[in-house]
Amino acid sequence: MKHIAALLCIALLAIGVQSIQADTSILPEAPSQYKKVCGSCHMAYPPVLLPAIAWENILDTAECHFGERVTMDSFEVKKIRRYLTRNAADKTSHKVAQNVAASLGGVVTDRITSVPYIQKKHANVTSASLKNCASCHSGASQGRFEGARIRR
Ligand code: HEC
Ligand code: HEC
Repeated sequence: MKHIAALLCIALLAIGVQSIQADTSILPEAPSQYKKVCGSCHMAYPPVLLPAIAWENILDTAECHFGERVTMDSFEVKKIRRYLTRNAADKTSHKVAQNVAASLGGVVTDRITSVPYIQKKHANVTSASLKNCASCHSGASQGRFEGARIRR
């Protein structure tokens, strides 16, 4: 019995080490439905930029989305909802996700550009140009925002 417990312990330790080593700065590949529907008017924003409740709100009000109408079939909604909520700011250990969630502190907004952490990092960027994350962060769609990736 003692032997089994020790083996289990070693196995758990191995899993722990593996998850620490995993690169949490990279997002899983977005489903094609997300890129097609949510990337047609603006960039398909990486899910780490808003908490799950905000993505739920956005999907639940897609008929009236910032003055536009987003059309999707129920299969597309399902795939998109799963991707956005599973990788949301409050659901992953992605570095940017944690900073976004901490800076919001429970405040709900549907705007990435209203997240205090994002505002703080871009004090010199006008709100109009800030929206196009990929214009400065070439790795934005993979959730990469570190300095080295910024195009100048
Ligand atoms: C028909 C065009 C259209 C489609 C399709 C669309 N959006 Fe938008 N989206 C907009 C417009 C317009 C705005 C507001 C832009 C502005 O204020 O300048 C916006 C804003 C946003 C914002 C806030 C950005 C900010 O200012 O911080 C998010 C988040 C967002 N959309 C997510 C989504 C998601 C998720 C989908 C897919 C379900 C989607 N959008 C599909 C038109 C669209
Ligand atoms: C006009 C260019 C520009 C645009 C547009 C822009 N950024 Fe940035 N972003 C920067 C610069 C410059 C920095 C600071 C880089 C540094 O500190 O190394 C930065 C830093 C960041 C950081 C912090 C990275 C870190 O490792 O500390 C995040 C996160 C970020 N941006 C996300 C976004 C998001 C999300 C958008 C779109 C809503 C966006 N940015 C749009 C220029 C831009």
